[in-house]
Amino acid sequence: MTNQVSAANIDRERLREQVASKYTDVASAPEKGFHFHTGRPLAKMLGYEDADLDWLPKSTLESFAGTGNPLSMGRLNPGEVVVDLGCGAGVDALLAARQVGPKGRVIAVDMTAAMLAKTRIGALALGLGNVDARFGYAEALPVESGSVDILISNGVINLCPDKVAVMQEVRRVLKPGGRIQVGDIVVHKEVPQDAREDIDLWAG
Ligand SMILES: C[S@@+](CC[C@H](N)C(=O)[O-])C[C@H]1O[C@@H](n2cnc3c(N)ncnc32)[C@H](O)[C@@H]1O
Repeated sequence: MTNQVSAANIDRERLREQVASKYTDVASAPEKGFHFHTGRPLAKMLGYEDADLDWLPKSTLESFAGTGNPLSMGRLNPGEVVVDLGCGAGVDALLAARQVGPKGRVIAVDMTAAMLAKTRIGALALGLGNVDARFGYAEALPVESGSVDILISNGVINLCPDKVAVMQEVRRVLKPGGRIQVGDIVVHKEVPQDAREDIDLWAG
């Protein structure tokens, strides 16, 4: 295993608490302003279509905090089973649910209760009965092995110190031939050890 993928030596529980606290704020007080972009302006920067953004409930879109546009990498097929790993307020999960239709299903996973609540409320507001929002961790997905056609994720894996554990979970839940469409942050330079172990830099 190379340096770039080894798990950072960091207090996992403290990091989860800090990340959840930050994204609880993004869910419940999106107007507060953060060191990263959020909401519709961010979605526009990342190339989301106006028509899609107009379709989403305002309370969903205002808490968007992604780093890419996973659904721009390919359309989902009707009937597919999707996992949105770290769904946040549900922007991609709800758009995915519309693409896979009533015969498909989106399992939206997040560890921040306030974000999951927003995903559920958004699905209800849009009359989407095929969104199943589940509390859980990227490193231990609450999803049956070999049951998923496509896993999407947006801005989440960079927040996980043990990326190998996350990718093992991704592999476990996918069906043979399953796909991933991930938007995230990639650092092209080696990150110094003291920065890797500074919890404030992870949680932002
Ligand atoms: C940057 S936000 C992105 C949310 C959403 N994907 C979007 O595009 O708006 C990161 C989300 O990942 C969740 N998250 C971070 N680490 C996680 C982990 N280890 N397991 C599950 N969810 C996690 C946070 O709770 C937060 O909702």
